[in-house]
Amino acid sequence: MQDTDRIRQEIRQLKEERNAILLVHNYQPAEIQDLADLTGDSLELSRAAATMDGDVIVFCGVDFMAETAAILSPEKTVLLPAEDACCPMAQMITADELKLVKSRHPDAAVVCYVNTSADVKAESDICCTSSNAVKVVNSVEQDEVIFVPDQNLGRYAQRFTRKTILPWEGFCIVHDRITPVMVENAKKAHPGAQVLVHPECRPEVIDLADTVASTSGIIRQVCTSAQREFIIGTEVGILHRLAKECPGKTCYPLSPAAVCRNMKKTSLALVRDSMATLKPRIVVPEDIAERAKGAIERMLALP
Ligand code: 13P
Ligand code: SF4
Repeated sequence: MQDTDRIRQEIRQLKEERNAILLVHNYQPAEIQDLADLTGDSLELSRAAATMDGDVIVFCGVDFMAETAAILSPEKTVLLPAEDACCPMAQMITADELKLVKSRHPDAAVVCYVNTSADVKAESDICCTSSNAVKVVNSVEQDEVIFVPDQNLGRYAQRFTRKTILPWEGFCIVHDRITPVMVENAKKAHPGAQVLVHPECRPEVIDLADTVASTSGIIRQVCTSAQREFIIGTEVGILHRLAKECPGKTCYPLSPAAVCRNMKKTSLALVRDSMATLKPRIVVPEDIAERAKGAIERMLALP
């Protein structure tokens, strides 16, 4: 038996023994996606963390995702197999920086992208993800909205609301590198292909797209569209699910270099080891978790 087959078998066995569920983000390596109980976008994975049965959640993604799962399900053991898998955008704002902005705009609501630390969520009124940012912004009472940390997602939401959005200047180092020239070149190479991009892309890239959606939204759109060819403007890990779930469709990466290194830190061996040792475990201090949970639950409660 090959090494990888043996590790897969050990993971299956440990899953039974630990009563564990594997939640896997759409950007994870293909071999990790293939082991998942659920592969999804941030919103789907948050909902699953709150509702799925199991004693252990093995979160194959980056730190803020596992933290969100730990906040929503404190009774479960939440593991992040790759301990140093972080989201650089989430690190672009601290709770102290947010407090300062709040003091300058005391009447504004605070909407935080789920790509934030638990400390920042604890200082926010409501969370959002890439799939519901517009809905969340429009749900708050205030006319002014401090939106952290992704300026691109904040500016995208501004297109669909009368509220004034005050975006923090964070950005995703993977999506922000995608340029309008790349879109134009991809369109020339694949004339007639539909262009789908993630809202973390720059406004000039969004202007050239046919569809803007979360990772799972992109997959749904490709699967249900009558068209056959698609240019995909997001992290390349999504292409694995697209190939598996959308047969007969051809998807071209808008940028083959759009690789999130942190998402690729998860390996079969790390998943196996974390299930065997129940480490690294993600635990959020109770006082912060309590306040952050309010922001996440207000988002999850939206229809
Ligand atoms: P999704 O919620 O669309 O999966 O996005 C998460 C993310 O980190 C995008 O870079
Ligand atoms: Fe963070 Fe960007 Fe990686 Fe998503 S793709 S986890 S936003 S760095």
